[in-house]
Amino acid sequence: MRSLDARRAEAISESLAAATTMMLEGPAPETQEYKAGIGTLYDALKAASNEDAVSDYSDPIRTDKGVAVSPFRAGVCLLDFERTAVFSRGAVQATREQVARSANGSANILYAGSGPFGSLVLPLTKRFSPDEIKILALDINPISTENLLRLIRLLDIEDYFVGVATKNACTFDPQSFVPDVVISETMCRALISEPYCSIAKHMVQFLGEDGLLLPEEVKVSLSALVVNEGPNDRKTSKRISLGDVVVFNREYLANRENEDEMFFNVTFEIPPELYESDYVWFSLDTEVKVFGDNILKHSSSDITLPIRLGMVEKVDRKFKFVSVKYKPGCDWNDVEMHVF
Ligand SMILES: C[S@@+](CC[C@H](N)C(=O)[O-])C[C@H]1O[C@@H](n2cnc3c(N)ncnc32)[C@H](O)[C@@H]1O
Repeated sequence: MRSLDARRAEAISESLAAATTMMLEGPAPETQEYKAGIGTLYDALKAASNEDAVSDYSDPIRTDKGVAVSPFRAGVCLLDFERTAVFSRGAVQATREQVARSANGSANILYAGSGPFGSLVLPLTKRFSPDEIKILALDINPISTENLLRLIRLLDIEDYFVGVATKNACTFDPQSFVPDVVISETMCRALISEPYCSIAKHMVQFLGEDGLLLPEEVKVSLSALVVNEGPNDRKTSKRISLGDVVVFNREYLANRENEDEMFFNVTFEIPPELYESDYVWFSLDTEVKVFGDNILKHSSSDITLPIRLGMVEKVDRKFKFVSVKYKPGCDWNDVEMHVF
């Protein structure tokens, strides 16, 4: 009879193959078939994992650049269906481009914030050979890295990995490993709370020539939402886009000498049409362009849900402007919004 480990490895490998095909080729993430497929993969990974990596009692790690969510929460991100599909498609396409472009037909992938399952690089192992890709995975939480190592051994995919390191991606130096692709999904909506911006700022310096940072761009914008039925009405009758709070990409980073310059501070004029409204919520919206046309649209995943910042009742004509200020990675409560 085959051992429990062999059966677990087979369950993961089969469900990963099926999930990878669905993520890359369909059906769409909102279908039951897709959700069931990713759910099966999650269950298989969970069954083979260390207890503390998949239990809700593990703690987040707080740093001055943002919170590293707990291993449990990091693992559950797999079930943020649209997110996982769009990131995985972007990762496969970017890797394919880099493998094709390189002289020796191989690409180095640095995965910053792997979580306990390495969810966004596992599909690569179903589309590339170990000669084509080498992965360096990092996570700040040892519970996650220990678990990922356990899964890599179980699945016998060690040849794909040059290492799995328990490191802070805001400061880690990959030394002789020159990444062709950096992948990091260490973000919360509107780039608050988690440290993606600091990780991107730090990692971008190690990218090889023509190297790719994934996601390529995160756009946060401010909208005014008009609601009819009082402050607790969740239905928006009108949405007016006021403008971009930040377009975070390589260009943004190139224009910031040091990290302290990453501070979002914008002021928009209040459009006169809002003066007619009884209740107006100001909301931060997020869109994530992972790679090429793999885009996570506003409200399509946990990381692109809107954040309602504050409500104004009867926007008075004496108010002309709305301003928003915050540091990426800050706590929700530290986002400042003023109407004046
Ligand atoms: C939102 S989870 C995503 C997990 C996985 N990448 C995925 O997409 O399913 C973010 C992961 O990044 C890790 N992380 C956050 N900040 C980090 C840092 N400064 N250095 C390394 N890892 C970090 C967390 O511990 C967590 O495992």
